[in-house]
Amino acid sequence: MKNILVIGATGQIGSELTLALRDAYGSANVVAGGHKRKPSSEKLQDSGPYEIADCLAPKVLAALIEKYKIDTIYHLAALLSATSEKNPKLAWEVNIQGLINVLDLAKSYQCAVFFPSSIGVFGDSTPKDNTPQDTIQRPSTIYGITKLTGELLCDYYYHKYNLDVRGVRYPGLISYETLPGGGTTDYAVEIFYEALAHKEYTCFLKEDTYLDMMYMPDALKAAMQLMETESNRLIHRNGYNVSAMSFSPREIFGEIRKWIPEFKISYEIDPIRQSIADSWPNSMDDNVARQEWGWQPEYDLPKMTKDMIEKLKLKLK
Ligand code: SER
Repeated sequence: MKNILVIGATGQIGSELTLALRDAYGSANVVAGGHKRKPSSEKLQDSGPYEIADCLAPKVLAALIEKYKIDTIYHLAALLSATSEKNPKLAWEVNIQGLINVLDLAKSYQCAVFFPSSIGVFGDSTPKDNTPQDTIQRPSTIYGITKLTGELLCDYYYHKYNLDVRGVRYPGLISYETLPGGGTTDYAVEIFYEALAHKEYTCFLKEDTYLDMMYMPDALKAAMQLMETESNRLIHRNGYNVSAMSFSPREIFGEIRKWIPEFKISYEIDPIRQSIADSWPNSMDDNVARQEWGWQPEYDLPKMTKDMIEKLKLKLK
C-alpha cells in the first residue's frame, strides 16, 4: 500500500496531481501538503488529509512522514523561471535547499521521491530542435541552474544511497484548474482565460517563439506512470525529456480562433521572459522516456484547445 505525501499540493501541478493520486491509491492514503493554512480549493481540502508542509521546515515534514507512514513523496514545491530571476537567492533556497531537505528525509525514512525538472535545464548551447535526452546543459537562468542541480542531486542520492528518486523534464504545462505563477510558458494558459473573458490577449513572447508544451492530464500521467515503472527498466531515472506538442504564440492563437473567431492578439514583449524562452529548446526529443517506461502523450494542440475551451467555459460561467 502506498502512503503518499505531495509537497506543493496547492500549486499548478499539485492541485490536480493530489486528486489523481487519491483516485488511484485511495483518498486517505494521499496527504496534500501545502504552505497555506487552508487550500483555496475545496476539493483538495475535502477529499483527503491536508497539512501544512514547507520544504524548508524539515522537522515538520519528518513529523508528517511519521504520522502518515509515508513511503512516497511527490516534491513539487518550487519557484518558476521568471519569479526566480527576480529573486535568485530565494530560488536557490526553495529549489535546492528544499530538495536536499526532502532527499535527506527520504533517505532516513526509505521513501521514493518524484522530482519535476524542466525544459529550463537547457541553454543557448543546447541543440534547439529535437533536443536529445543527453546533450549539452548550460542553462543561463537561475531556475535552470536549480533544476539541473536538482537532477544531479537526484542522481547522486540514487547512486550513493540507492534512494529511489525519479523525475521528468516538464515542458510548459497548460491547465484550467490552478494558474501557474511566474513562469515563462504561462502565456499559453493566460491566452485561454483572456480569449474567453475579453476576446483579446496581449502576449509577452514574440509570435514565432516555439516551446514544448503539455496538457495537464498528460503531465499527471507522466508522473504516475514513471513512479509505477519497475525499477530495473529505468536507465536514466531522472530528468526524462517528455513533451506532447511544440507551438508558438501565433499557432495557439490560430487554434483558439477556430473556436472564438473574433479573438484578437497583440504583442508587448517582456525582454526577460523572451530571453529565457529563447534560451530553451524549440522541441525536445522524448524517445528515451517512450522506450524506457512507455511514455505516450494523449493531447496535441487541437485536442487540448478544444478541452481547455470547454472546461474553462464552464468554470468562468
Ligand atoms: N513552465 C516553467 C516556466 O516557465 C518551465 O518549467 O518557468
